[in-house]
Amino acid sequence: MSDEIAVKMTTMNYDKDRPAAENPVKVEDLSLRDGHQSLFATRGRTEDMIPVAEMMDEVGFWAMEVWGGATFDTMHRFLNEDPWERIRTLKRYIKKTPFSMLLRAQNLVGYRNYADDVARAFVDRAAANGMDIFRTFDALNDYRNFETVVSVIKECGKHFQGCICYSMTEPRMGGEVYNIDYYVNKAKDLEAMGADSICIKDMAGLIAPYDAYAIVKALKETVKPPIHLHSHFTSGMSSMSHLKAIEAGVDIIDTCMSPYAFRTSHAAIEPLVMALIGTNRDTGFDIKHLAAINEIFEKEILPKYKHLLDDTKMSIIDINVLLHQTPGGMLSNLVNQLREMDALDKLDEVFAELPRVRKDLGQIPLVTPTSQIVGIQTVNNVLFDDENERYKMITSQVKDLCYGLYGKTAVPINPEVQKKALKGYDRGEEPITCRPAEVLEPELEKAQKDTEGLAVDLDDALIYALYPVTGKKFLKWKYGKEQPPQEVKPRTLEDAQAEMELIKKAKAGQLVEKTQKAAPPKGENLRTFNVFVDDDYFEVGVDSVGGAPMVNYVQPMPGMAPAYAAPAAAPAAPAKAPAAEEKAPEAAPAPAAAVEGTPLNAPMPGMIISYEKNVGDSINEGETVVILEAMKMENALPAPASGTIKSINFSSGDSVAKGDVLCVIG
Ligand code: CO
Repeated sequence: MSDEIAVKMTTMNYDKDRPAAENPVKVEDLSLRDGHQSLFATRGRTEDMIPVAEMMDEVGFWAMEVWGGATFDTMHRFLNEDPWERIRTLKRYIKKTPFSMLLRAQNLVGYRNYADDVARAFVDRAAANGMDIFRTFDALNDYRNFETVVSVIKECGKHFQGCICYSMTEPRMGGEVYNIDYYVNKAKDLEAMGADSICIKDMAGLIAPYDAYAIVKALKETVKPPIHLHSHFTSGMSSMSHLKAIEAGVDIIDTCMSPYAFRTSHAAIEPLVMALIGTNRDTGFDIKHLAAINEIFEKEILPKYKHLLDDTKMSIIDINVLLHQTPGGMLSNLVNQLREMDALDKLDEVFAELPRVRKDLGQIPLVTPTSQIVGIQTVNNVLFDDENERYKMITSQVKDLCYGLYGKTAVPINPEVQKKALKGYDRGEEPITCRPAEVLEPELEKAQKDTEGLAVDLDDALIYALYPVTGKKFLKWKYGKEQPPQEVKPRTLEDAQAEMELIKKAKAGQLVEKTQKAAPPKGENLRTFNVFVDDDYFEVGVDSVGGAPMVNYVQPMPGMAPAYAAPAAAPAAPAKAPAAEEKAPEAAPAPAAAVEGTPLNAPMPGMIISYEKNVGDSINEGETVVILEAMKMENALPAPASGTIKSINFSSGDSVAKGDVLCVIG
């Protein structure tokens, strides 16, 4: 044990003899934001936070992170929840512990830089709704992107926590870009901006224990604000890094309650409490109280989310992160994207291409949204490039990055790639060097106009300003102008238990027998579940009859469940009968076949953002026809031929599958 961490307690009578520490490590709990974002795809619902809220308020956390990051997007898009309401609701239960949010600087809680007026309004409304600490980061560590939001955070009298995104290009800290001087200089910049605390944001779990020690030590010697370490567990190093950071004098550490900890999330709080007990850095937390909270999480809440946990591997650490120095979330996005495009066999090529793309794009840190920008472009290169041409399909985000719309990259962008990306770029072919938001036209007034008669207040209008397509959809659900689809409704504990029973039965082969019987008519309460058994996928309808869930139908999904479906092909047929409740028919591309011409097929599954042309418009080969959002990145799809738009088969907001005919040019 190092000199700094002296043990004060010799008798270990936990309850009686525990002295108050001279300099307790402060702890921020991340369970209700980064925890469920990392493990459960950000699907945590407010109603599932309430049962533990008051107890968590009693722990003594320095702060609780409850908002920001992906929560805003996920809540309105997938949970049919008003993100603003979450802050207000939790505030009614959590009265003592300050709230923290993750703010992507000028990106706010989205994936691009928003105009200054939207940024100002957003921060002002977040503060008014109850946010206390604004953990602010910029994916490029370009602090010019902090200027607008920080001035509002300060005006509102709130805590500005400035982040330095931890990144590297070598297996350990160092090299030409991300060395100790880099971090010290960034910390000085943040101090000069008035940071109330400084956070080393290790979003990928890359920080090695001795590097954590070196950075914390250097920062403590150089700057005055408290130093905070945010490190993901992904690679398995973060508990060790926490301890070395504590030895170096770190002020605040981020952890999760153990049910939300480990894997791509964070180290758990409980081992840290016990590791420090009786030392001069003792957290002072009551481990029994933590255990009581965990019991509620385990029994009442997490069964509803267990299906979202990626438990396909035994190992809870991802050594790919150690091998490739890339965030775990980014890796799983890449894998998902490749899987959706039937190209999982290209994963090794993706790993090889990734550092090349990152270098071409200015050796930028890999964090949202730059991790997606680099990741998706890498996948595009692997899938669409050939020996004659690189960067054949450049995403609009890469074009924006090359233009300077995200800020200044760590090293200059490869000029060839930059030139290609900016050819015909609508803002101009010459990149900018000013603060990015300076070239953005105000957006708020237009957002308010677009939502007239729908948005009731500024909070509503901001949902639309940040997410025009899904935001508008959400506002229609919110005000009863459209019925929200079944899949955005909450799962109950009973749903979860019923599903677990089904999986058990499916594994035991009992589902097959059951569906041989004549299926009763579907009831009103029929709900559809996706059930995954190893690699097989079933769509299962569950109808609640007199309280007890019963299986209504099991439908092996086409092309996905041959192993299970083969011995007993029966289950699909009798069960499918009433088609009314089925999902949107897959027949969408069919009418397109009738139109003669060159089809534009969706190169990947995604959501239509907009069509740039109308039926009857003439178009040149290579001109953008459709903007397709895939993996949260917008892809401008070029016309495969010159001619006239004969048909347009989808509209803004529609989901499309790979291969769907988006339009026909004749
Ligand atoms: Co994080």
